[in-house]
Amino acid sequence: MDSYQKVFENNQKWVAQKKEGHPDFFEKLAIEQRPDFLYIGCSDSRVPANEIMGLEPGEVFVHRNIANLVNSIDLNCMSVINYAVVHLKVKYIIVCGHYNCGGVKAAMESRDLGILNPWLRNIRDVYRHHQEELDGIEDATLRYNRLVELNVIEQCVNVIKTAEVQQCYKANGFPRVAGWVFDLHNGELIDLKIDFEEQLKKIRHIYNLDV
Ligand code: CO
Repeated sequence: MDSYQKVFENNQKWVAQKKEGHPDFFEKLAIEQRPDFLYIGCSDSRVPANEIMGLEPGEVFVHRNIANLVNSIDLNCMSVINYAVVHLKVKYIIVCGHYNCGGVKAAMESRDLGILNPWLRNIRDVYRHHQEELDGIEDATLRYNRLVELNVIEQCVNVIKTAEVQQCYKANGFPRVAGWVFDLHNGELIDLKIDFEEQLKKIRHIYNLDV
């Protein structure tokens, strides 16, 4: 059986498994979604959002792109944030990067990557903001890992820059923004423990939109 056909066989098994003990699983699922989390992660096939968080269908709203970037002129990502905050009223927005990220690696190389150039330039900009720290790390793998972390932090700040997040947080005390890194070597999630209040305070005089 080829991989395409196998998907449908897997699907049938999954449906049966979900209905075991919960015969109304899909009827309930069809009614509405009430996720507490918006997860913004990398498209990398090795980092499946629901699975690494141990969450069921309906529990996490997901946006994925190459290298988990949050760009203010990306209508896709901005629409996802808007919908998640304004309509779903998520409690947490997670930006999750991962070590061994091909997008971050490509951005560290001197190469013309065509259509990927403007996308990956966002990561090169993160490098430029932290050039002194990164250039000071001699070991290439450690430097690469650190850029993965710094990129997550920068994208968290980009989430905090949005009007939706600022206004909803002021009115309701949520959502909070968090940055994680998924370690492919052991499957563990690392919380970068971003101080959300502090980040919000720091950027406020320049990016304030909750007027
Ligand atoms: Co990646």
